[in-house]
Amino acid sequence: MKTHHRYLTSLDRLLIALDNALVTVAGMPTGSGRDNPADGVKQDALTQVEREEAARLMRVNHVGEVCAQALYQGQSLTSRNETVRQALQQASIEENDHLRWCKSRIETLGGSESRLNLLWYSGSFVMGAVAGVMGDGANLGFVEETEQQVEKHLSNHLKQLPRSDHKSHAVLTQMRVDEQRHARMARRAGATTLPGPIRSIMRLASRIMTSTAYRL
Ligand SMILES: [Fe+2]
Ligand SMILES: [Fe+2]
Repeated sequence: MKTHHRYLTSLDRLLIALDNALVTVAGMPTGSGRDNPADGVKQDALTQVEREEAARLMRVNHVGEVCAQALYQGQSLTSRNETVRQALQQASIEENDHLRWCKSRIETLGGSESRLNLLWYSGSFVMGAVAGVMGDGANLGFVEETEQQVEKHLSNHLKQLPRSDHKSHAVLTQMRVDEQRHARMARRAGATTLPGPIRSIMRLASRIMTSTAYRL
């Protein structure tokens, strides 16, 4: 099979990034076309309180995926390594599945998306772009660290979600499997471990994001 390479100019890449930002924040991303893990899962009836709580938690996870898109786009915008860029793009397609699944859970639960999505996207995009200029090792290290933190976060949410919300559980469980794979992909591709202080700053940033997105 003949592969056709097209090298994108910086302007092309910037336009793709803008397009992605719009789709992430305001549209419905395509993703890989995988089925929603919540489909076909039997759901118990939820009380009003449970529904509201689940919708808030899924809003947090939706924001997490908005951030993931922005990070990946920022990182691939400034990364100079074509292989790394392709790995990032592949992972970002799967993150789009997550985005869709969380979005549809929020809708079904009668909740609302964060009103600050554009802000989350912009901030994460800049963080990703900074990681991208730090070189492949650190850039991939950033992916690995992010994915590991998300994985821990998802494990906590799986405990916090109302037990009867089997559909949200199914979504988060599949997301956790994917995030583990993204972390492994980054490690195999040559991630270096980020310095402790950077990891702490990342944890702090995600704590601010999760506690804010829980409310608005
Ligand atoms: Fe994700
Ligand atoms: Fe991921």
